[in-house]
Parts: sequence; structure tokens; C-alpha cells
Amino acid sequence: MPDLAVKLNRLSLQNPILVASGTFGYAREMAAFVDFRAIGGIIPKTVTPAPRPGNPPPRTVETASGMLNSIGLDNDGFDQFMTDKLPYLISLGTSIIVNIAAKTNDEFRRMAERLNDAEGVAAVELNISCPNVSGGVDFGTDPSLAATVVGTVREVCRLPVIAKLTPNVTSVVPIARAVADAGCDAVSLVNTFQGMAINWKKQRPVLGNILGGLSGPAIKPLALRIVWQVAQQVQVPIIGVGGIQSIDDVMEFLIAGASAVQIGTANFYNPGIAGQLVSELEAALQLLNADSVTSIVGSLRTGS
Ligand code: SIN
Repeated sequence: MPDLAVKLNRLSLQNPILVASGTFGYAREMAAFVDFRAIGGIIPKTVTPAPRPGNPPPRTVETASGMLNSIGLDNDGFDQFMTDKLPYLISLGTSIIVNIAAKTNDEFRRMAERLNDAEGVAAVELNISCPNVSGGVDFGTDPSLAATVVGTVREVCRLPVIAKLTPNVTSVVPIARAVADAGCDAVSLVNTFQGMAINWKKQRPVLGNILGGLSGPAIKPLALRIVWQVAQQVQVPIIGVGGIQSIDDVMEFLIAGASAVQIGTANFYNPGIAGQLVSELEAALQLLNADSVTSIVGSLRTGS
């Protein structure tokens, strides 16, 4: 049987299928649909230092082959996450990667420090790429700001650090290089693409926040392209995310250079999909005569 385990610097996962932040709640709501122990890990909804009500409704709208969201990091804040949500998450028998966002380096530092004491957390993912809050992408669009936040967290936190990057830049490569140089263990590529929807009969935007982040199958070729470009140019493990909904998609991302993947929007219409993809992975690897996931990462052949 092929070996499904993957290692992204200091982060070891039993298999490469993760569920993406913001698409899986804090896992309780998915318990009826998912065998948590079977999947590679869970990344719960982004947590911020203080509670946030999020953006005005409507906050989601379906689009062709995808959806726009403008949630605005609605969450109950870090203290409540630590006392009410994290104990349940770490009881689930899979890797828990806590996703945090903040407005300043100091806020990132304080949350990362407190995660040090949380037994059972596998890694921290830094959301420096939310397009739906003011300042949300500031860290993620500037290589030097992105490096500083990663460096700050690395300084105070023993956990593996993942930087989740935005595609809303001319090139993700310099940002990925900057966070890799600053010591992050992996990058998640990519967060949503900024977009909008209009109700022309009302001559109004559909979303309360006017703009939102596009996800789902519509963005898969774009995300795949970014994964491949970064894999070619930066020495850093990649977690691919963007429109993955089938085992073919998973294999494409691995071959493009991702060491693991996150399932996002597909969780909304098929909550059991992550477990299903884990069960399909062995057969797909066998089709390539691969004895492990690791052996096919970045194996794309581009020459004649
Ligand atoms: C949101 O809460 O607005 C979505 C999270 C994100 O895009 O990072």
C-alpha cells in the first residue's frame, strides 16, 4: 500500500488531505458527516484577538462554478476559542492547525505565544490574506510585512508555522520567498480571489460588503498555476487550496508541487468529501506506480 504520510518541514501529517479554514466551522457541525480520524487534519475558522461580528449580509452568493464570500472574519475571539472550541477540536484524533488573523504584529505574537501552551495543536496557520476586512491582505501583499509577521510568530511559538497567502497580487512568488526566508514551515496557496456580484435589476451589489472572495472550482486552474509557479522558484513546502473537489484535482495539485491540499468550498455541498478523497488516494497513487505521496510531489514533466 502506498505511504500516505507527508512531512512539511516540522509538520507531519498522516495523509495530505486537510479541510480549509472557514469551510468546516469548528468541526462540531461536521461530526455527523466526517470520520475525523481518517483525514489529514482540520483547519478551523480564523480566530482573531477579539470577537468580530463580521460583515453585513448578504455574505455569500453562488457564482458559476463557485461562490463569493464576504464573511469578514466573524468569530467569537481568541479567548473563547481557547476555552470552548479548542478542547473539542484536539479530542478528534486528527491534526489541528489553528488559523489566526490580526491587525498588528503584536497581536499575532500574543496569540502565538498562548498557542504554545495548548497541548495537541499541530501547527498555526497565519491568515495574512483575508480580502474581506480592512487591512486583511496588507501583511500578505507586501513581502517585507509578510516576513515580519512570520518572523515574529517563529520567535515566540514552538509550533510549525504556515503562511496562507493571497492570490490578489501580481506575483505570489516574492511573497512566498520572503515568508520562507523568515522561517515558515509551509505556505498555503491560495486564499480567495477578490470578486463581486451585481444585481443589475436593482442596480445594487449583491454582497453587503460589495466585494467578496471567490472560491470553488472556478479558481482551480488559477490556484494550480500559482502552486506550480511557486514550487518552481521557492524552496518551501506548499499546501494547495482552490477549488479541489475530486481525486483528480488532488493529484493535479500534488504533481504541480503541493505536499498537501486543503478542501474548501466543496465541504459546503459534500461535507464528507475529505474522507472520500483520502479513501481514493491509494488507488490513484497505484495508477502511477507510486509507493508514496511524497514521491509524486512536484513530479510534473514539462519537457518533450
Ligand atoms: C472571511 O471571513 O471573510 C473569509 C476568510 C478569508 O478569506 O480569509
